[in-house]
Amino acid sequence: METVLSGIRPTGNLHLGNYFGAVKNFVKMQHKNKCFFFIADYHSLTTHPTPADLHEGVKNVLAEYLACGLDPDVATIYIQSDIPEIPELYLLLNMIAYKGELERTASFKEKIRKQPENVNAGLLTYPVLMAADILIHRSHKVPVGKDQEQHLEMARKIARRFNSMFKTDWFPEPKAYNFGEELIKIPGLDGSGKMGKSEGNGIYLIEEPKSIRKKIMRAVTDSGPTEKNQTMPDSIQNLFTIMNAVSEQETIDFFRDKYNNCEIRYGDLKKQLAEDVINFTEPIREKILEIKSDSAYLQRVVNQGAEQARESAKKTIDEVRRIIGFKPF
Ligand code: TYM
Repeated sequence: METVLSGIRPTGNLHLGNYFGAVKNFVKMQHKNKCFFFIADYHSLTTHPTPADLHEGVKNVLAEYLACGLDPDVATIYIQSDIPEIPELYLLLNMIAYKGELERTASFKEKIRKQPENVNAGLLTYPVLMAADILIHRSHKVPVGKDQEQHLEMARKIARRFNSMFKTDWFPEPKAYNFGEELIKIPGLDGSGKMGKSEGNGIYLIEEPKSIRKKIMRAVTDSGPTEKNQTMPDSIQNLFTIMNAVSEQETIDFFRDKYNNCEIRYGDLKKQLAEDVINFTEPIREKILEIKSDSAYLQRVVNQGAEQARESAKKTIDEVRRIIGFKPF
């Protein structure tokens, strides 16, 4: 049986990008594989959250995961900071990760640009912590969106390097995973790149219908097609990408034909898209609210997850220590 792992930073609520990029695939896989899903609270420290925000973020994301259909009696759901074996593996892997390759990752370069006042060492070694997250359970598949592709490449490189350095095959090479083969990127509503927590361009699972309608009606468009079958500009393609995720095929075909025949009215497209997004998010939103108010349940999930995840993590770290050459006296 293959081991599947995925995670999320608890810095803000789950948005459609997180859901369609990672959570949805994971929910599908949980019954057929050995699955681990975790909340990457150590990763979120790179941006210095306040203590209160840190805890609130973890609680929100946990309730949101569960509301999306992750089943704690099937998959192991845990909080990263409950598993001390992860930072231990991170330390050991840091010895075989090199400054040059870490400096070259796109995410590091982007962070330097975005937060020049806080270029901490945790940002530089972020991909090593991610590799430790993945390798601690010797995972084979990692359901993620397109934005995490390079981090997965780094995890593979580190796994290969460890294996070849110590002449072992202990770590499998983890693969970024999506059922549709191509990794997914859900765009933001501002006509630019991906939907992201820090970009402020997201639609959240917990969002009120009124606010979703407002955001979608305000999404960037252009003045409309002037030639039949012309290529869509990014801002319009983005609306269709979201539609592909939430709407019926009939609806998508209808508006695509309208666009191709230069008959499209963006107002109608957006109204339909807003209703389809709300149909999708509303049942999840109700579940989130219900789960979030049940502290005893959340506590049970977290305790159970920590126990199971530690059992698996301990097996790996014991073997890694043995391979590296630590011996008891
Ligand atoms: P994070 O918290 O930014 O995002 C969580 C998951 O959501 C996916 N995602 C998207 N997919 C498609 N379109 C989008 N617009 C979009 N935005 C986010 C991400 O690809 C990710 O799968 N470093 C990771 C968290 C992490 C992790 C790990 C993931 C830490 N350790 C180990 C997997 C395995 C992150 O910041 O994801």
